[in-house]
Amino acid sequence: MRNLLDITDLTPQEINSLLSIAMDIIKSPEKYNTVCKGKKLATLFYEPSTRTRLSFSAAMMELGGNVLGFSDANASSVSKGETVADTVRVISCLADIIAMRHNKDGAPWVASQFASVPVINAGDGSHCHPTQTLADLLTVKRRKGGFDNLTVGFCGDLKYGRTVHSFTRALGRYKGIKFVFISPEELKIPNYLRQDIENKGFSYLETDSLDKHIASLDILYMTRIQKERFDDEEQYNRLKDSFILDVKKMNNGKSDMIVLHPLPRVNEIVQEVDFDPRACYFEQVLNGKYIRMALIYSLLQWRDGSNLQPVDYEVVEGGTCNNSKCISSTEQVKPLFKLMPSGKKSCFYCDELV
Ligand code: NCD
Repeated sequence: MRNLLDITDLTPQEINSLLSIAMDIIKSPEKYNTVCKGKKLATLFYEPSTRTRLSFSAAMMELGGNVLGFSDANASSVSKGETVADTVRVISCLADIIAMRHNKDGAPWVASQFASVPVINAGDGSHCHPTQTLADLLTVKRRKGGFDNLTVGFCGDLKYGRTVHSFTRALGRYKGIKFVFISPEELKIPNYLRQDIENKGFSYLETDSLDKHIASLDILYMTRIQKERFDDEEQYNRLKDSFILDVKKMNNGKSDMIVLHPLPRVNEIVQEVDFDPRACYFEQVLNGKYIRMALIYSLLQWRDGSNLQPVDYEVVEGGTCNNSKCISSTEQVKPLFKLMPSGKKSCFYCDELV
């Protein structure tokens, strides 16, 4: 059985196959409108969502399947103190596939240990968001034709923005990618991701200036400052307007640059930019539905298949994770760590380095 917890759970070939299926769905949707007949998707959303939850639901409906679940953990037995482990054991009796969003980093990894059906990570804390990455990849594929030799600028909250973390890991596997990480000092990418990038030898630079770098970018990935992740409100207020993309800045971008944003936007992109043909953020939403259709369809097919999940680390037991936002801080989980080829150890659930 296969899950999608981290984007690198899929090989680049598998990602290509999902992208091809999504393109075929766009071309001939009628071929797919009964392929999941009789199947049920459970959407377990412990955190607010508009696009992700509704596009999972729309995707399953367009495949001929059904959807059940909750969009507010307070309305489920979670409010009575039920653990993730127990919840997914119960849901495995009722549904064929699970999409889970959780406020704790690593929660879907715990879910996958107890579920007997495939688990899809629909966003865990400030850690990962692999299905948004699939939507981003489909958007880039349709706009740019491929992924090699792109200069990609991520701008905004690169510390807590989980979509950035997953998209970076996905893009880094293509040839000639250059990353430009644009953020205030306080919101730089997490250490585990920098370590990952360095180990894999990706080309990257970190800066606090969008103005200086916008002209070099093929993709500008804007992000919201993630208010809900800040422990210090004063810090949020100080940083919230760090970057605002406006028409003047767009004028310095390449004519074939594309602007991505996972949405929701607060005020980091002014509305006038929406009319620029380089703005792709509403296309990303539509692409998100198609790629989630391809994903649900494929995971249900792979369920009994023999194709194994690729891993480039060894799993070892013992120790504690120091990340207070890791699921291991609130739920009893096996203390597991990833031992990387570099010798570094990180939490199996949230990737925090130890
Ligand atoms: C993102 C998320 O939830 O991480 N939204 C989404 O799923 N499209 C981005 C965000 O909330 O800023």
